[in-house]
Amino acid sequence: MRAARLRRMAGVEDFRRAARRRLPRIFADYIEGGASGEVTLAANTADFDRILLRPRVLRDVSLRDLSATFLGARHALPLMLGPVGSLGLFRARAEAAAFRAAAAAGIPACLSSFAVTRPEALAPVVGEAAAFQLYMLKDRDRTEAMLDRVARAGFGTLFVTVDTAVSGIRERDIRNGLRQMARPDLRMLADFARHPRWLADMARAHPLGMALAEGWAEAGRGYLAQAGFLAGQIDPALDGPALSWRRDRWKGRLIVKGVQAPEDALDCAGRGADGIVVSNHGGRQLDGVRSSIAVLAPIAQALAGRIEVLFDGGVRRGGDVAKALALGASACLLGRAYVWGAAAAGEAGVRAVLAAFAAELDATLALLGLRTVAELRDAGTDVLRLPADWGWRPAEAQD
Ligand code: GLV
Repeated sequence: MRAARLRRMAGVEDFRRAARRRLPRIFADYIEGGASGEVTLAANTADFDRILLRPRVLRDVSLRDLSATFLGARHALPLMLGPVGSLGLFRARAEAAAFRAAAAAGIPACLSSFAVTRPEALAPVVGEAAAFQLYMLKDRDRTEAMLDRVARAGFGTLFVTVDTAVSGIRERDIRNGLRQMARPDLRMLADFARHPRWLADMARAHPLGMALAEGWAEAGRGYLAQAGFLAGQIDPALDGPALSWRRDRWKGRLIVKGVQAPEDALDCAGRGADGIVVSNHGGRQLDGVRSSIAVLAPIAQALAGRIEVLFDGGVRRGGDVAKALALGASACLLGRAYVWGAAAAGEAGVRAVLAAFAAELDATLALLGLRTVAELRDAGTDVLRLPADWGWRPAEAQD
């Protein structure tokens, strides 16, 4: 994307449109879509819009600071790049581009198990802030070997995803034939041909394999076959004791991703997790659950600071980040928001998305009458007007 055009991209929605134009429909739909009727997908963003802000004026906000402490360190923004599978299929070398953009913005990034790029190439890019997302596999030895590899590569934080006992039913992917696909059929090739810029870019990156499947002969050849193999290896028997087992063996920080109930959050804390991500997997797993932002506050309240609370789901603006922090999150993970930037414009796109988040969060803080992320978190729901039917109130109800 040309520099002049990039400067006119106002935020995530502009990158979503640009990404849709550049990508074959099968991938654009895969990124954008959710499970079943996509009710939860829609609620994730709609509920952010239902929460209003309550500004205060006559405060000196001339000196502002967006830095935030989470995952054991201070970062430039209360944001990180969440794990997104298949990113390297949406644009050549997109995983490295995303990691470089995160490093430039001073925030952590999490590599998905379903990545094209080798973990050894990525960890050095963000250093201490490198996180790896794990699906627990049925084959414990294979899981151990994988984790030895990522620990050796320098990943200090593990995000264990726990909301994928089975895959959500993604109707767009069924209609587009993505689920049955081990290699592209004619319809898909026609879709690819209609997106020549994407095709030329990917032709240069060909052949693509799944980094973690290197050396797994039984996974087959090529990214799609290998991703299908890995998906079939995810262990639906993952339970509390298995999490404790994992905790005992991983020496670094361990975050459980995909928690939606206070009881489960407390269970994770009891099993030694360092934190959780309140998440419904971007509305891609169980449809018909409440939005992620609607379940955040009761979970943060139940944990009462025992372990860290991260958040994802529907975060598209700096104002959404402010709302999540006011409701108890220490930082937000971005998913689709940065993937659209990466697909549309590579590293420059992710940088632009992060810059848009930073600018809007900064303006939000200032116009709320606040100077720092710590002040925002302390103010909590004082800076919000929750809808009358929200179903959760802070202990001392606001006016
Ligand atoms: C994978 O985690 C997906 O949601 O597609």
